[in-house]
Amino acid sequence: LDLTESNPTRCGLSPSGEEIAGALSRSGSQSYAPDPRGLLSAREAVAAYYRAGGGEVDTENLLLTASTSEAYAYLFKLLCDPGESILIPEPSYPLFDQLTDLEGVARIPYRLVESSGWAPDLADIATGFAAGARAIVLVNPNNPTGSFLKAADHAALSRLAAQHDAAVISDEVFLDYGFREDPERVRVAATGVQDALTFSLGGLSKSCGLPQIKLAWILAGGPPAATGAALQRLELIADVFLSVSTPAQLALPDLFRFGSAARERIRERLGRNLATLDAALARLPSEAGISRLPFEGGWSAVLRLPSTRSEEEIALALLDDCDVLVHPGWFFNFPFEVALVLSLLPLPEIFEEAVERLGRNLAR
Ligand SMILES: Cc1ncc(COP(=O)(O)O)c(C=O)c1O
Repeated sequence: LDLTESNPTRCGLSPSGEEIAGALSRSGSQSYAPDPRGLLSAREAVAAYYRAGGGEVDTENLLLTASTSEAYAYLFKLLCDPGESILIPEPSYPLFDQLTDLEGVARIPYRLVESSGWAPDLADIATGFAAGARAIVLVNPNNPTGSFLKAADHAALSRLAAQHDAAVISDEVFLDYGFREDPERVRVAATGVQDALTFSLGGLSKSCGLPQIKLAWILAGGPPAATGAALQRLELIADVFLSVSTPAQLALPDLFRFGSAARERIRERLGRNLATLDAALARLPSEAGISRLPFEGGWSAVLRLPSTRSEEEIALALLDDCDVLVHPGWFFNFPFEVALVLSLLPLPEIFEEAVERLGRNLAR
């Protein structure tokens, strides 16, 4: 029973094969007339997606990539010479080690502070920029803590970045999965006024439950001269690869249409599994000391347990004793033991059974 499963195509949530095939069969796919920034019709579809979420973006500030991972790689090429460094949040998405290593870029970690709702530690960030970091990566909402960046922290870190002529990279792939509205939350970091050159990243993987299509984007914003220059250089990088397929780009308006229904299914699934989890935790004796950390959005829930054994031992025992797979917190660089990370995406019948077994095992 896999509670690390976060692939929507394996959880019965993605658009159907017929919908995808119909979208991909749009006329025009037989010819090749590439635009390194992405076909205008596709960038217009991305702008319409932002508009539906309440934000205005200019198609001139968008550049398509095959994935968010590729978007990171392009931005690291753009912003860093080999050996230069990037500020990376902890705890967060584990792929940053590989993404930076593969671009020959060093990492400077900065803390997200649990006691302040996982807000970024601005002192760490100031130290990182003073040490030469060329950019700061934000994940908003963060994976797996589900915490959103707040406007005051955004303003402060954007100012710090600008003072050091550095950039802000905001990974917003989980943007559509906030649980409640909060006016303090930053939604799209690259829109609105900000001091630093800023890139918001999004993609079909999470927003539409379509990781297999391989289409994502970079939205650039900030001081106009710096933004324009960055986009020109990004266009050159993208022109070397031209990695987004024409059928995927032509299909984008339809994929967003089917994707918005998938998004609703995903939201429903998150709510249902979260309720199952909370009900199972409420049935455990309080001496077990197991709690779920508060979170504001995303696809994961984090459990905190007393540190009677290591995370590794607990995760392995769950596998051996009851066939339940979870991620140990160290995988995401949590600052404490014991944290266990659960995906909220699995099929409800699998999730219910897994959480039941997990509760019985952990409360022993
Ligand atoms: C925070 C975050 N960013 C990016 C990605 C990868 O997205 P893509 O499929 O667009 O590369 C993931 C995938 O889990 C993620 O959790």
